[in-house]
Amino acid sequence: TFATLKEVLDTAKAGKYGVGAFNINNMEIAKAIGNAAKEEKSPVILAVSPSAIKYAGIEYIYEIARVTAVKSKVPTVLHLDHGTEFKDCVQCIRHGWSSVMYDGSKLPFQENIAMTKKIVEFAHAAGVSVEAELGKLAGVEGHVSVSEKDAIFTNPEEAKIFVEQTGVDALAVAIGTSHGAFKFKGEANLDFERLQKIEKLVGIPIVLHGASGVPKEVLEKAAKYGAKLPGAAGVPNDAIQKAISLGVAKINIDTDIRLTMTAAIRQVLTEHPEEFDPRKIFGPAEEAMKEVAKGKMRLFGSSGKA
Ligand code: G3H
Ligand code: 13P
Ligand code: NA
Ligand code: ZN
Repeated sequence: TFATLKEVLDTAKAGKYGVGAFNINNMEIAKAIGNAAKEEKSPVILAVSPSAIKYAGIEYIYEIARVTAVKSKVPTVLHLDHGTEFKDCVQCIRHGWSSVMYDGSKLPFQENIAMTKKIVEFAHAAGVSVEAELGKLAGVEGHVSVSEKDAIFTNPEEAKIFVEQTGVDALAVAIGTSHGAFKFKGEANLDFERLQKIEKLVGIPIVLHGASGVPKEVLEKAAKYGAKLPGAAGVPNDAIQKAISLGVAKINIDTDIRLTMTAAIRQVLTEHPEEFDPRKIFGPAEEAMKEVAKGKMRLFGSSGKA
């Protein structure tokens, strides 16, 4: 049913486009992403975090993803996002995931290598792909000095050793992005020079976490209907396209879908205070998320590639 991350990303890297990894937490989000992929004829990655598994239950989220893949008729990866424990990865591999991310980025370098290697052996024996992470995706405030960058961003020489010793299929790097809706104070600032060096040394598809754009339109709509998110800022579209041109093949999006969903729900509840049919509340949100996901697929260049 599911494509592996390796086959989808190797093809994307060769074709110089990126594939979106969209976090799913419930049926409406999964349907929105699956229908977007179907309409755009785009490969897609359904990302499920350990807290999404806890929220939905592993049987529900697996079945939602499975039906989404069957109905979309495009190469669909079911991926564990940010597994920080060996047991998270094992559980997903046993349940039919086709890809896992082991996130040992908080561990010392050698321990990250040792744990990642263990997971690669277990996963590859089951035909499952592995993404790992090197460097810290910390929120970066204002101007970052060279020494600060070296302390938190991915070191290119370490990345080379890490990939050689672990055999991972994709590598998540830290080049200035961070998770959530508050990525930058002032101008967005990504370390493309570092990305270029890493790509030359590792050769495998690179993953950009924290890649949401946090677009003004969505923020304005959310604010109009009562959201309070002062200072929210994301990665501009041209920075995403530049990252793809420099070897990024997987682009992780959660925040933009969250913002879109809640803004749409706020709008219905505000404009129709008499409404209490959940389908009239979640339906427009699903439609809005689908349109945002389709826009991402066009931006990443994955439209028409399925
Ligand atoms: O990087 C984290 C993703 O946005 C998933 O977040 O752990 O709240 O599901 P979550
Ligand atoms: P955003 O918070 O920018 O959407 O990033 C999501 C992510 O990296 C999930 O792993
Ligand atoms: Na991931
Ligand atoms: Zn992430």
